[in-house]
Amino acid sequence: MSAARRVVAIGMGMGPQHLTPEAVRALRSVDLVLAFEKGSHDPLLEVRRAVCADHDVRLVVVPDAERDRRESLDGPAYADAVADWHERRVAAWAHALAEHPGDVGLLVWGDPGLYDSTLRLLDALGGRFELAVEVVPGVSSLQLLAARHRLVLHDVTQPLHVTTARRLPEALAQGQRNVVVLLNRRVDLAGLGVEDWTMWWAANLGAGGEQAVAGRVRDVLAEVHTARERAEAADGWVMDLYLLRAPDLGGVGADEDAR
Ligand SMILES: C[S@@+](CC[C@H](N)C(=O)[O-])C[C@H]1O[C@@H](n2cnc3c(N)ncnc32)[C@H](O)[C@@H]1O
Repeated sequence: MSAARRVVAIGMGMGPQHLTPEAVRALRSVDLVLAFEKGSHDPLLEVRRAVCADHDVRLVVVPDAERDRRESLDGPAYADAVADWHERRVAAWAHALAEHPGDVGLLVWGDPGLYDSTLRLLDALGGRFELAVEVVPGVSSLQLLAARHRLVLHDVTQPLHVTTARRLPEALAQGQRNVVVLLNRRVDLAGLGVEDWTMWWAANLGAGGEQAVAGRVRDVLAEVHTARERAEAADGWVMDLYLLRAPDLGGVGADEDAR
């Protein structure tokens, strides 16, 4: 029986400056890195290309499967579209693994454990190949958001809820009062009753066009929209996230050392 194929999911943070020594060791230990290419202009592929060049690792680029990104897709239709996309990505990876022997590295944006499908795809691939999967953690956008705003993400004794823009209304309806929101197509808080909450927002963390804005929602939302456009103009892409906190929980991160 053939030995299991070694695959290492390597958290790369938001760029070469965030690669930990453990990530560098993992990168240097593989024979090649597989990376998806999204469309003809994929700036994050270029970041991966730079990382591989820095560490002298071969990069094999796999064209990504098309994904249905219509905003009108509702809950079940959205889940179906994602499942269909994952299936076609698994097929693409299976093909690439069969073509390119050796230990494989996958450079995962941020941390593999936060809103990333790499490990699920590897689970699905496990049905076709015997894989020995390793995971190296990376600096996540959540950690960078906290660092840029010198912020403790949770108030003393209070929980932190992490969700997506799609599910923010549901989180607020459930009574969540300290919420990090990722995967925004835009920052739209109209009708959510959070004008008096505080938001700590950041875009393109770690990139040249990085932006950060903090303050009461009613005071800073227009500035957030402008800063978002600035980030996109500077880098040619935009990714952002923010912490939204209810007024009674305080405006700035509480001092944990006061316990
Ligand atoms: C698919 S998730 C990947 C998260 C990633 N695994 C991590 O650890 O941060 C993509 C979302 O993460 C956030 N994100 C990723 N990179 C970012 C960056 N450089 N600046 C701000 N937010 C970012 C955005 O909310 C984006 O829509």
